[in-house]
Amino acid sequence: MSQIRSHIVGTGYSLPAKVVTNDDLSKMVETSDEWISTRTGIRSRHIASDGEYTSDFCVKAAHMALDNAGMKAEDIDFVIVATVTPDNTFPSTAAKVSKILGIRAGVAAMDVNAACSGFIYASQIADNMIRLGQIKNALVIGAETLSRIVDWTDRNTCVLFGDGAGAAVFCGSEESGKNTDRGILSIKIFADASHYETLCSDSGVSFNQKSGFVHMDGKEVFKMAIPSLVEGVETALNLADLSLSDVDWYIPHQANARIIDSVAKKLGIDENKVIITVDHHGNTSAASIPLALAVSVENGKIKTGDLVAISSMGAGFTWGGMVVRI
Ligand code: ACO
Repeated sequence: MSQIRSHIVGTGYSLPAKVVTNDDLSKMVETSDEWISTRTGIRSRHIASDGEYTSDFCVKAAHMALDNAGMKAEDIDFVIVATVTPDNTFPSTAAKVSKILGIRAGVAAMDVNAACSGFIYASQIADNMIRLGQIKNALVIGAETLSRIVDWTDRNTCVLFGDGAGAAVFCGSEESGKNTDRGILSIKIFADASHYETLCSDSGVSFNQKSGFVHMDGKEVFKMAIPSLVEGVETALNLADLSLSDVDWYIPHQANARIIDSVAKKLGIDENKVIITVDHHGNTSAASIPLALAVSVENGKIKTGDLVAISSMGAGFTWGGMVVRI
């Protein structure tokens, strides 16, 4: 039976110009390129300069996504930004992005905070609204300036993160309803708040009027990330009645190359089908998935018609998966 599907018709990304290498970090804290690259696979990350905000990266990524979609800001009828590092506590970064882009008055704008799973959460919301016929075209962005909530004296965390944004334009169109359609074929999001303190900011507006720094139990996060990322992919594939052998590309959350390797092995997916950007981006939380998607479309790896499986996991804990034919 035919149904409305959300197509990803354009992608874009933006990264700060400033690159910080592992050697640069070894001048700031007691660490080394050898330690960081062996334990995490990260070699460098982009870091926002003074005066650069989350919204700046959102806007640049959005312009690229709109250009690639052949669309203009006035075509958009929903703006959603996934982030844990908004410009202001309120209004939303989505509202700021809408203002700068010149999005029409009346178009809903909102942020979603689901940490590293934010883009999948935001996609679920936009996809549902498109499939219900409430909107036609959505601008879905994941963006962070995590460098602002990292304690640059803490070697346990400061080596892991980076800044940037990825954006996608979703557009609804009538399809056959079969899993051979293009567009988003399935999405599933999860949370288990019993892990609230395992990965968190140590402060908050209501708590102590500060934004605080990233704190985590790295080993516990590592342990939980692997089954969560596997569950995200497997659930989304089941929902779409597809299997791993149908998948052309797998985009895992870009937190740590060792987590990605373990997940790929557990899934049994060919490592050549796994997209890796963590080496040059670090962990960009909500930006990680749309950034990896946009870069892979730009460099010609991911092509029209390819089946892409995605999964992510982050603070909350939150996790999820989606399957999309580009
Ligand atoms: N440089 C040098 N030494 C370091 C550094 C560093 N940057 N950081 C920690 N160490 C030291 C520790 O102090 C410890 O020293 P000790 O034995 O003298 O106490 C030693 O290295 C070993 O530390 P471990 O914590 O055992 O190292 P591990 O192999 O577990 O790796 C890591 C740590 C990389 C953080 C790992 O646990 C991990 O990747 N966890 C996942 C965390 C993550 O990705 N978080 C991101 C957010 S969550 C998400 O996006 C899913």
